[in-house]
Amino acid sequence: MSNSVVTTAAIEKDDNVIWHQHNVTKAERAQLKSQQPVVLWFTGLSGAGKSTVAGALETELVNQGYHTYLLDGDNVRHGLCRDLGFSQQDRRENIRRVGELTKLMADAGLIVLSAFISPHRAERALVRELLPQGEFLEVFVDASLAVCESRDPKGLYKKARAGEIPNFTGIDSEYEQPEKPEIHLKADEHSVAELVEQCLSVLRAQGVIG
Ligand code: ADX
Repeated sequence: MSNSVVTTAAIEKDDNVIWHQHNVTKAERAQLKSQQPVVLWFTGLSGAGKSTVAGALETELVNQGYHTYLLDGDNVRHGLCRDLGFSQQDRRENIRRVGELTKLMADAGLIVLSAFISPHRAERALVRELLPQGEFLEVFVDASLAVCESRDPKGLYKKARAGEIPNFTGIDSEYEQPEKPEIHLKADEHSVAELVEQCLSVLRAQGVIG
């Protein structure tokens, strides 16, 4: 068990840490931004296009005047989660931390885009449970392993096949597909612009954007 997990468990058991209710509410923060907070949780294989689509969608939202933040697995692993690797336990802790961070950002009134492989249904379900009903939109960036491997934008599949990266998702570590994602993007059949439009139309239908 890593130190971070021990520390978390210790805090959860500590009766001397009491929640402080501050004055300014989530609703007030969101109202100031004239928007409704929502979390778009992009999940899929490495190379499926999570960061690309999330980035293009964020650009479009910002152009329309919305306040956003994009959390990206590769970037977060340079800082907040730099102590974590890719074992099942570390991935679980990675998603737990990012889930909590995502919740804080939604609490700040933001539209949050989170792009993480997040290979396990259980961890994604935990993040969903952190948020109010309807505020978590699971976005399955669906591209076959064959397509992701042929793209291999970072050369990681090649290394994984050569046995240089253990526990690589899709190769020797599982990916559990979402069963009922709010948004299912067929990322090997459509252009990035079309996938962004698909996300925007769901946000419009949900009244998140005008
Ligand atoms: S997650 O599984 O814990 O959700 P996360 O999204 O943070 O993963 O990080 C995935 C990124 O780390 C990939 O896009 C890839 O660039 C890099 N990476 C390095 N090692 C691995 C590995 N063993 N499996 C998957 N991705 C890896």
